[in-house]
Amino acid sequence: MLEGKKIVVGVTGGIAAYKAVELVSHLRAARAAVKVVLTRAAQEFIQPLTLRVVAENEVYTGLFGGAEVLPHIRLALENDLLVIYPATANFIGQAAWGLAPDLLSTLLLAFQGPVVICPAMNVRMYTNAAVRENLRRLQERGYIVVPPETGRLACGDVGTGRLPPPAVVAEVIQGALVPKDLTGLTLLVTAGPTREPLDPVRYITNRSSGKMGYAVARAARDRGARVVLISGPTALPEPPGISLIRVNTALAMREEVWKHFDAADVVVMCAAVSDYRPKQVSPEKMKKGPPEITVEFVQNPDILAELGERKRRQLLVGFAAETGNVLAYARAKLEAKNLDLVVANDVRQEGAGFEADTNLVWLVFRDGRFLELPRMDKYQVAHRLLDAILGIWKGGYRE
Ligand code: CTP
Repeated sequence: MLEGKKIVVGVTGGIAAYKAVELVSHLRAARAAVKVVLTRAAQEFIQPLTLRVVAENEVYTGLFGGAEVLPHIRLALENDLLVIYPATANFIGQAAWGLAPDLLSTLLLAFQGPVVICPAMNVRMYTNAAVRENLRRLQERGYIVVPPETGRLACGDVGTGRLPPPAVVAEVIQGALVPKDLTGLTLLVTAGPTREPLDPVRYITNRSSGKMGYAVARAARDRGARVVLISGPTALPEPPGISLIRVNTALAMREEVWKHFDAADVVVMCAAVSDYRPKQVSPEKMKKGPPEITVEFVQNPDILAELGERKRRQLLVGFAAETGNVLAYARAKLEAKNLDLVVANDVRQEGAGFEADTNLVWLVFRDGRFLELPRMDKYQVAHRLLDAILGIWKGGYRE
């Protein structure tokens, strides 16, 4: 999603400045065009040459004396986004007060696109009232401030002030660059497997990793939607800017979905809900006994089918994980559950379905049309799905 985007990475003079090399490398790997501006203090920590090699592009070190005199206006006009990684307390203070003693601060004043600021400093400085107030000013002005992480700091202290890793910041950058075309909509997304207990230590589950559902939630958030994510157990980190509700069982997921259904405009049921649960849940850990045992299962409610019966204005999206006859089964599900769209995939194909980072899907519409998407990253699949959802929504969709 960052392909072809023009990004300026501004580096200020803190010990975390060396991490800018990793961010630039990350952005280059995503095929963004990157230019780097170093403050004088940043050059104490890192050589311009290193960044020139990694960025495969120009590095700017001052207003004067470089190949180009006063490059700030051109840099401001020609680039899509400015990220300050890391931003020192001094730089944040200058920015808050509109001071422009060097190239980076001058560029910040001239820049009219999205600006992402990543503070990194000692915890005592970060919690200082002046720094807090300056950061609040920047946020009020519309700059995106990525909060530092908590952990061991360069000086040996433990606290909040660590620069977030490149992947976290790249996601924020990506989000800042997508159009906010879902503003005003509320999406309810479910993700991950459910866990159906047999006893206090054992359960039945499935291979869903939650990656697709989390990608839909993140993409919708990036496009300005309010997102409620109801997630079964996954190993994924909590996505910022999303209301995350964690559940275990299908029954608990159903309860949370119902709680949030009325306020939702769009429901995307990505979760791999267990169709059955053990009939008896032993309150004690079951002991080893006879060589063969039989477990009885009862059916779980089909959450999506229930929503299909009750929906009013909501647009309902289901997922269909199949192992053959994909389109036919997907269409049958769409009909049976009264859905507006089904995302179908053949989980036997490589790079599709459970656990993979990519997916290979068909979007199956109510009017019989379908769209086969090439294999792509789940976040990109999510955007294509949201394009389709928006299309249906704008087409005056109402029951
Ligand atoms: N789903 C649900 N509640 C269930 C089972 C499934 O809400 N108890 C939802 C899933 O989140 C998914 C869709 O229904 O969006 C399709 O689920 P799937 O398990 O593929 O379909 P089933 O209807 O269970 O049919 P089958 O297992 O026979 O393929």
